[in-house]
Amino acid sequence: MSKNKQREHWGSKIGFILAAAGSAVGLGNIWKFPYIAGENGGAAFILVYLICIAIIGLPVLIAEVLMGRTTQRNPVGAFRKLSNSPFWASVGGLGVLAGFVILSFYAVVAGWSFGYIVEAFKGSFSNFSKVGASGDYFTSLTGNIYWIVGYLAVFIALTMSIVYFGVQKGIERASKIMMPLLIVILLILMVRGLTLPGSGKGLEFLLKPDWSHITGQAVLIALGHAFFTLSLGMGAMMTYGSYMSKEDNIPSAALQIVFLDTIIALIAGIAIFTAVFATAENPAVGPGLIFHTLPVVFSKMAGGYIFGILFFILLTIAALTSAISLLEVVIAYFVDERGWKRHNAVITFGFITFLVGIPSALSFNVMSDFKIFGLNFFDFVDFLASNILLPLGGLLISIFVAWIWGFDKALANLKSGAENLFERNFWIVSTWKVFIKYFAPVLIFIVLLNSIGIL
Ligand code: TRP
Repeated sequence: MSKNKQREHWGSKIGFILAAAGSAVGLGNIWKFPYIAGENGGAAFILVYLICIAIIGLPVLIAEVLMGRTTQRNPVGAFRKLSNSPFWASVGGLGVLAGFVILSFYAVVAGWSFGYIVEAFKGSFSNFSKVGASGDYFTSLTGNIYWIVGYLAVFIALTMSIVYFGVQKGIERASKIMMPLLIVILLILMVRGLTLPGSGKGLEFLLKPDWSHITGQAVLIALGHAFFTLSLGMGAMMTYGSYMSKEDNIPSAALQIVFLDTIIALIAGIAIFTAVFATAENPAVGPGLIFHTLPVVFSKMAGGYIFGILFFILLTIAALTSAISLLEVVIAYFVDERGWKRHNAVITFGFITFLVGIPSALSFNVMSDFKIFGLNFFDFVDFLASNILLPLGGLLISIFVAWIWGFDKALANLKSGAENLFERNFWIVSTWKVFIKYFAPVLIFIVLLNSIGIL
């Protein structure tokens, strides 16, 4: 069946890099990174985060992409092909399930972002002179089930409309348009932030280390975020890797993806905190920073009308290129393993994701009292996916590559396309060995223990 059909591939090297960077750059970079850096000591936290990216993020990213490229399969097929074991195939299945669950709540927040583009156009932000008013407005929007479910539907439909057209004509083409646009908008916003009077305090906040904040907990937050921001632990990068050819250089591509993801998070931090400080707003408000504080910032800033629109377009694009990678994992599984046609799979599973997303959307209104383990539905699925499934998946992936598939076999495959690196800089390869065999499994295990409350 479809297994024998020619598998689609990326049309170009840059196509893969932009698509994978698109997956990595998302709400995690623009919404979450700035506020966790803000809450955990600014520059000191950023340094710890960079170390986590280097010693865990990069090695696991390489491992995932390599599994995909070697097997040319979705996560379930990839594990099965390399191990012939039903247990490991089910680890891939866990990834597919995680993709599905993450998309269902990710799309709710992405839907707000889309809705906020419309609000910005309508000029709604101009009425906010203080955070209270914008917070109340946010609560009234998310309290409206038609608004929240409606934008969830719009965002999922957008995601489906890209994945529908396949790897080259859908994902790659969309990434090649949206990623450069995202970078341009971000640079405009950074320049605006830096040129506001009083922006220096924002920069100082972000760049001057406050070591007193660096606790064990902060390190674990950095570690967990390194994982989420690079889309690791559930086979998204594996799936994208499965559309690569053997001639592509994985270590160099992985390095470029990590670089783009990191630099974009930092620029987003600069753009946001310079503006927040220049308008004398509170930087340490946590998750509400984007939807509560920023609209007030825009209401106070010269040109805020335009910058408000641009900001929420930026956030929506970032979320969209991530959402397509989440949906693609599910689609690749049904196409490769179950012989579905792509179009049918996209329509069916896009719709099911929407249905699963509804209780997450309703957690902000009619279902707010519905609790699972003390969390509302949205927080519960977020916790389950981000704090349990992803670290568990990442742990199993690194153990699998290093010990089950076997490091030497993995290395032999990694060499293809990267011969130069292997000849000239073998130390990089040996470093990967130590990280993927020992550091990654141990550190991820600690994060996992922490997530489930043992540490
Ligand atoms: N990396 C994205 C972000 O930073 C989110 C994301 C997309 C993701 N695909 C993923 C996270 C797969 C984990 C796994 O927002």
